[in-house]
Amino acid sequence: MTRILLLGGTSEASALARALAERGDDAIFSYAGRTGTPVAQPLPTRVGGFGGVAGLVEYLRAEAITHVVDATHPFAAGMSANAVAACDRAEVALAALERPEWRAGKGDDWTRVRDIVGAVAALPDSGARVFLAIGKQHVDAFTAKPGNFYLLRLVDPPETPLPFPDCAIEIARGPFDVASDEALMEAHGITHIVAKNSGGTGAEAKLTAARALALPVVMIDRPATPARRVLNSVGAVLDWLGHGADRGV
Ligand SMILES: NC(=O)c1ccc[n+]([C@@H]2O[C@H](COP(=O)([O-])OP(=O)(O)OC[C@H]3O[C@@H](n4cnc5c(N)ncnc54)[C@H](OP(=O)(O)O)[C@@H]3O)[C@@H](O)[C@H]2O)c1
Repeated sequence: MTRILLLGGTSEASALARALAERGDDAIFSYAGRTGTPVAQPLPTRVGGFGGVAGLVEYLRAEAITHVVDATHPFAAGMSANAVAACDRAEVALAALERPEWRAGKGDDWTRVRDIVGAVAALPDSGARVFLAIGKQHVDAFTAKPGNFYLLRLVDPPETPLPFPDCAIEIARGPFDVASDEALMEAHGITHIVAKNSGGTGAEAKLTAARALALPVVMIDRPATPARRVLNSVGAVLDWLGHGADRGV
């Protein structure tokens, strides 16, 4: 009997959830609980952390999970590492649904950095108007350069004021389109964009808009994840699940 735990939080996870529901597969969808208004899923859904590797092992056993699909965001490195360790310990099959990275093309002006600290260092010390397209986590690091203006785009309004003297908030949920992203950047006089190399189509519009407006992008590379089986499409995951998916990387 196949029973799937789908670790979500991305549009690809939602697409996979729809496909599993259509097939009538026995699956549970899991959200971290970061947003107050998560997208409703056509699968039984649980919300909140498992309590580290030990908590996840316990959950996998209690729910008799046979397969885990990690469709979390490429920057959710903690959850992904926990999934590898817990599936190994509980002897549960694991695959990651991972979207390919974005690559700079003709007309792009990217500075690639390893992490948030590198992104802060890559910005001018003051006078820049920065579209901080990285969600709400880690924005505090940019207080090291308070002389810049920061535009944040968030799913939920922040519970506490942003820690910048000069900033603006756009409340919106992707997917985003190029025309709206161009208009947003022009309206705020943006001079720099900071982005995570998430890949996928839902958040790609800002990069196309940056190219059109000849704006520089500070691109944060993905964090490393332990070795695991990686599949690049919903169809590949369905095939894997449908063919007595084995363990291993
Ligand atoms: N990081 C981003 O840029 C980003 C962007 C868009 C969406 N997201 C989504 O937001 C969620 C949190 O991302 P993050 O970067 O904070 O992750 P993270 O740092 O890797 O995870 C921190 C902890 O949150 C819990 N967690 C994360 N994803 C979970 C899930 N799908 N179900 C249950 N618990 C989960 C786990 O808690 P326990 O240790 O207690 O199990 C995990 O150890 C993920 O679902 C991710 O797909 C993240």
